[in-house]
Amino acid sequence: MSKITAAITAVGGYVPETKLTNFDLEKMVDTNDEWIRSRTGISERRILKEPGKGSSDMAVPAIEEILRKKNLDPKEIDCIICATVTPDMVFPATANIIADKIGATNAWGYDLSAACSGFLFALSSGAMYIESGRFKKVIVVGVDKMSAIVDYTDRTTCIIFGDGAGAVLLEASEDGMGIQDSILKSDGSGRHYLHMKAGGSVKPATAETVAAREHFAYQEGQAVFKFAVKGMADVSAELLERNNLTGDDIAWLVPHQANLRIIDATANRMGLDKEKVMINIQKYGNTTAATLPLCLWDWENQLKKGDKIVLAAFGGGFTWGATLLTWAYEGK
Ligand code: UT7
Repeated sequence: MSKITAAITAVGGYVPETKLTNFDLEKMVDTNDEWIRSRTGISERRILKEPGKGSSDMAVPAIEEILRKKNLDPKEIDCIICATVTPDMVFPATANIIADKIGATNAWGYDLSAACSGFLFALSSGAMYIESGRFKKVIVVGVDKMSAIVDYTDRTTCIIFGDGAGAVLLEASEDGMGIQDSILKSDGSGRHYLHMKAGGSVKPATAETVAAREHFAYQEGQAVFKFAVKGMADVSAELLERNNLTGDDIAWLVPHQANLRIIDATANRMGLDKEKVMINIQKYGNTTAATLPLCLWDWENQLKKGDKIVLAAFGGGFTWGATLLTWAYEGK
């Protein structure tokens, strides 16, 4: 019996309409467009402004796009894995809320917390359910409303992040397409450099934690930058090597969109031309778990069946990894 592989068979995405430009940020903190563009590659990001809206409100339209494209009844979905660090609530899981909102009444699901590597980790988890033959239709969604946890008085973090959602449908491939190999890593000692100080069980919310602005993302940018450059480039190069591939064999690199300089370093290490690298950081910023599927969403109509694609990410935890997949359908 041939091995079942798990393939992405549809992509959906959603970004809020409201744009927060570098020029808007110039009016909020001591920064400037030139610094932000040259140090990160970002020009603007999208922000979910409407009160009372959360991550599920971005995940739902992204998944509904998939349902429309595939003419799929939501009741056919077996499982929803939602990668996010900005769940609607601490509990229940945002995956459950999404299932309810889209009418996926036969689906089970859960949230997966791996920050910027969340989509990559969730993709790998979802693929295993398909490969085992246990489930037929798995939705993997990466979504973050980073504007909910960004301190807009801190110029070192508020310039980076944006809001958005991207989703994929995983199904069994009959011809060996889809996910081929992954290297996934984590190192909890990296938690000191990128975390949220309060709101968890160690330091529950109090008036003091709110006053100390401890419910926002805290990042030591330079330290994270150094680990990210090495981590993302190392696993991407290792993944190519152990699959006997070179940069020439790869149609596309889909890198986490944290900083253009980290993306360039990874592409260089893999020996890839810039034309083969998906980059949309200039218009969305860093949407954490949503960056990888939002790239697939933006580039879908350029993808061809058989394209070899490497997805690579690095994020809080630390967490990082790379996945090699063969694209399973004509994107056009
Ligand atoms: O996605 C999850 C993982 N996260 C990442 O991968 C992010 C990794 N880190 C980064 O992308 C970069 O470290 C940042 C974009 C966050 C910062 O860039 P940097 O080149 O590492 O800047 P820096 O922190 O070394 O700061 C350089 C200078 C400092 O001034 P002095 O001390 O040299 O006078 C900062 O105070 O730039 C200053 N600075 C700014 N200036 C204008 C920091 N932020 C800003 C700003 N506007 N927004």
